[in-house]
Amino acid sequence: MKQAVVNPFLLTGYEGPEYFCDRKLETQKITEALTNGRNITLISPRRIGKTGLIHHVFHTLEEQQDSSCFYLDIYHTHSLHDFVQVFAETVIGSLDTKSQKFDKTEESLKEIFAYLVDSGKVCYIAMDEFQQITNYPEKGVEALLRSYIQQLTSVHFIFSGSQKHVMETLFTSASRPFYQSTQMLQLKEIDLTDYQSFVLKLFEKGKKAITTGAIDWAYQIVHGHTWYVQVLFNRAYSLRDTLVDVIQVENVLTEILEENEVTYLTYCNLVTGKQLALLKAIAKEGQVTEPTASSFIREHNLGAASTVSTSLKSLLAKELLFNNKGNYFIYDRFFSLWLKKI
Ligand SMILES: Nc1ncnc2c1ncn2[C@@H]1O[C@H](COP(=O)(O)OP(=O)(O)O)[C@@H](O)[C@H]1O
Ligand SMILES: [Mg+2]
Repeated sequence: MKQAVVNPFLLTGYEGPEYFCDRKLETQKITEALTNGRNITLISPRRIGKTGLIHHVFHTLEEQQDSSCFYLDIYHTHSLHDFVQVFAETVIGSLDTKSQKFDKTEESLKEIFAYLVDSGKVCYIAMDEFQQITNYPEKGVEALLRSYIQQLTSVHFIFSGSQKHVMETLFTSASRPFYQSTQMLQLKEIDLTDYQSFVLKLFEKGKKAITTGAIDWAYQIVHGHTWYVQVLFNRAYSLRDTLVDVIQVENVLTEILEENEVTYLTYCNLVTGKQLALLKAIAKEGQVTEPTASSFIREHNLGAASTVSTSLKSLLAKELLFNNKGNYFIYDRFFSLWLKKI
């Protein structure tokens, strides 16, 4: 039996539509694509809600039709061999002993796909953090997977990933096997209005109250970035106050930043002095479109444009910064707020 959810603002996992905010349009788009034989590529920064959305879509699909949905997270796989292990475990449940052997990898892959086809059911497979396949040491991984996937008529796929650039290269470069083989979906933040009604409903259900001002403030301060929003409401929900107002949410945020100080100091130690100065400058502004512009550099005393440009590249590679269509922001929204304070 499933345990009752104590706090409705979940920070991990998926517990059904009741605890899932909006994503109606995205769910519709994805189910429509999949049920019409089009595979999907889902891209967004981390913690926006790709994994949650995949589970929500699968929940919807399984309710609509007799189908089998398989979710695999390949973030921790480092080779095609690992990939096949995870795939087999997810789909078949147990592993054939011969698939343990490296040289049998391709054979096992063939077996898994054959198993899916033989099931006679429509199958949906999500491969989360799919960009990981580009790090596998084996040659021709993309072409191999593509060749299998291409032949299947009863198995449909969601390829999901957080590394925007890598994901886009995989699916939009003419020279790559997966070129134009899927429908692309860039997942954005949930709209504030949808979050408002979601939060009000859940507070009411728990016989608690929160002001719309508090909801707006929490949402805006983390730019609607889903996980950070959820963390704030999870904390706000657990307060004893009868009415949660902006002041309480501000206090919640201060507490979170204090608790995480050690982590943030570690982040600071990962970067050079110049990189830290740039991080602080971007944190101060919230987001920056032209960090190499002379006005920005002058205002924040960042030195030469070439230095800023080098720092930018390094911070992006370390995933401390994120570049969303030319908008630079600090990937960890709480870290950003902490930097702004110090
Ligand atoms: N639509 C949603 N409503 C409520 N919480 C959500 C929603 N989407 C995601 N979350 C929560 O936000 C967090 C990050 O979502 P996740 O799906 O793991 O992001 P991603 O896969 O993009 O990194 C999770 O804690 C998840 O529970
Ligand atoms: Mg995820």
